[in-house]
Amino acid sequence: MCGIIGYIGGKKSTDILVDGLRRLEYRGYDSCGVALIDPGQALYLKRVSGRVDALDKLIASDPIKKSAAGIGHTRWATHGVPSEDNAHPHTDCSGQVVVVHNGIIENYLELKEKLEKAGHRFKSETDTEAAVHLVEEKIKALNATGRSGDGDQLEPVFFEAVRRAAAELKGSFAMAVIWAKCPNMILAARQHSPLVIGLGNGENFVASDVSAFLKHTKRTVFMNDGELAVVKKDSVGYFTFQGKKAEHDPVTIQWDSTMAEKGGYKHFMLKEIHEQPGSVENTLRGRLLPLKGDVLQREINLPSELIKSVKGVQIIACGTAYHAGLVGRYVFENFGLQTSVDFASEFSDRARMVGADVLTIAVSQSGETADTIYAVREAKASGSKILAITNTLGSTLTREADFVLYTHCGPEIGVASTKAFIGQIAAMYVLAIHFAVMRGTIFDADARTYANELLKIPRLIEDALEGEKAIARVADRVSGSEHFLFIARHINFPIALEGALKIKEISYVHAEGYAAGEMKHGPIAIIYKNMPVLAVATTSSVLDLVAGNIEEAKARGAEVIAIVDEDSRKRIKASQYIVVPKTLEILSPLLTVVPLQLFAYFVALAKKCDIDKPRNLAKSVTVR
Ligand code: F6R
Repeated sequence: MCGIIGYIGGKKSTDILVDGLRRLEYRGYDSCGVALIDPGQALYLKRVSGRVDALDKLIASDPIKKSAAGIGHTRWATHGVPSEDNAHPHTDCSGQVVVVHNGIIENYLELKEKLEKAGHRFKSETDTEAAVHLVEEKIKALNATGRSGDGDQLEPVFFEAVRRAAAELKGSFAMAVIWAKCPNMILAARQHSPLVIGLGNGENFVASDVSAFLKHTKRTVFMNDGELAVVKKDSVGYFTFQGKKAEHDPVTIQWDSTMAEKGGYKHFMLKEIHEQPGSVENTLRGRLLPLKGDVLQREINLPSELIKSVKGVQIIACGTAYHAGLVGRYVFENFGLQTSVDFASEFSDRARMVGADVLTIAVSQSGETADTIYAVREAKASGSKILAITNTLGSTLTREADFVLYTHCGPEIGVASTKAFIGQIAAMYVLAIHFAVMRGTIFDADARTYANELLKIPRLIEDALEGEKAIARVADRVSGSEHFLFIARHINFPIALEGALKIKEISYVHAEGYAAGEMKHGPIAIIYKNMPVLAVATTSSVLDLVAGNIEEAKARGAEVIAIVDEDSRKRIKASQYIVVPKTLEILSPLLTVVPLQLFAYFVALAKKCDIDKPRNLAKSVTVR
């Protein structure tokens, strides 16, 4: 799980590569590097164990004079420890062929054995190195068949060598390859890992993600699996691994590069928490108003026969997206459609339980989570149709799915997911209401009430965000605690899980999310004097029960911080109150999650943690 970038054009390549790598650091950040070819065909290679800032300093201490093509990489280790030797780019024995790679080459051991027998010397522990030696071997074989030459004459040899190598690699890869003897081109190959091309004027880009080049161009091509791109300064050509020409129409990305920057906030996470009113608005936009069956159909092209005939829904997702799925289950079942939710990583054995009469909904911010994509393939193999809920245009998930509902939340850079989560939940409401209308399990008047209340949510999130300073004070006061407990019932139970996940991932402290009613069946034993217990206690059908569970926690010495609305506050006795606006019980997760995200943020801030890039994590988990 890494970020790759390539640049060819007239500007200072190192600046463009380093800037692109900074924007890709959310994909991994344990080591990084760049490689460039100067017009004299010499290779310039710089790698560091550590972050892009260190690479930038290294480049500044020994700058390249002029440059043409260049590639770069920021790494999240899979094969081989984080170190300079294992950092990309990797070179062949001649030191002239260079590769950056994201993904996992599954047959690398087999290839390595063969290549070592043929005389290649490996210098790293990575799977990637097999790819670069394989390209070298193919070049040798092609030269041996008399296709040698120099400069541009060698371009067909380079292309053919990379094509043959790509066709032989198994597993997942997005690669960019340069060869010192062909300074005027970059070759890029995609198989099950994200890869996009940025089309500029007299310059072109290759990257794992558009954020790496949006500052320079918005014109983008999303490559398909099994394709190679020949990237030159003034042209890009596409081919299949079989060597056939492929066609692509560029799309124009609406995000601008400042949308991917911090916009005055201290961290991306805080910025993204504040962007949530807009995220919900964007997810709802144009999808709710007429409340007739065809509104969503046009957007997601989900056939009405399918909506009417399915007997149930199966949701698969990981982490925060899984919590959105749990909220989705309450919502779908509220409208009478049986729904199961599974971790994508645990879905294998359950895949045979779905079939053509179950719609599988895969939820993923990135659309690149390997566990989710594999689970989708398993559900598909069982005959289920797949609907993807994702934030990422052109992602692998969107290609695997039969139907897609985009959340349109904009780029989420903070590793801890916030605005994408709220967009995923909003998408669940849109879908569930649409299904209920189409299946006749809701009265039109009720559907209108839900829709109207949903449309008020963005403003109510703004009100909830006004509690930020008070939340910061509470969080700061209890930030020294080693343990946190989050409790809730019913549709807010997933929010308790999400509150605990947020604090774990960015503050590195132990936190548990628990169904409030389950506490007395064992976990209540962990409560000790002054332990912070965050309880979601907004107005609901289960408020009295939650009030009782709060009393039980207090009786064991807990310091209860209650998330309430103005009405429920009168019925709850807690040490601290965080007030959110009142809405319908079923919509309350869209508001109750906001203070818990802020709470996690301020605890992490007090502990001086690296909030946007927590240790051991990466934004997009593209390995299983
Ligand atoms: C937590 C978080 C992760 C992701 C999970 C799935 O804040 O971000 O738990 O939710 O890795 O990622 P996506 O949604 O990209 O499939």
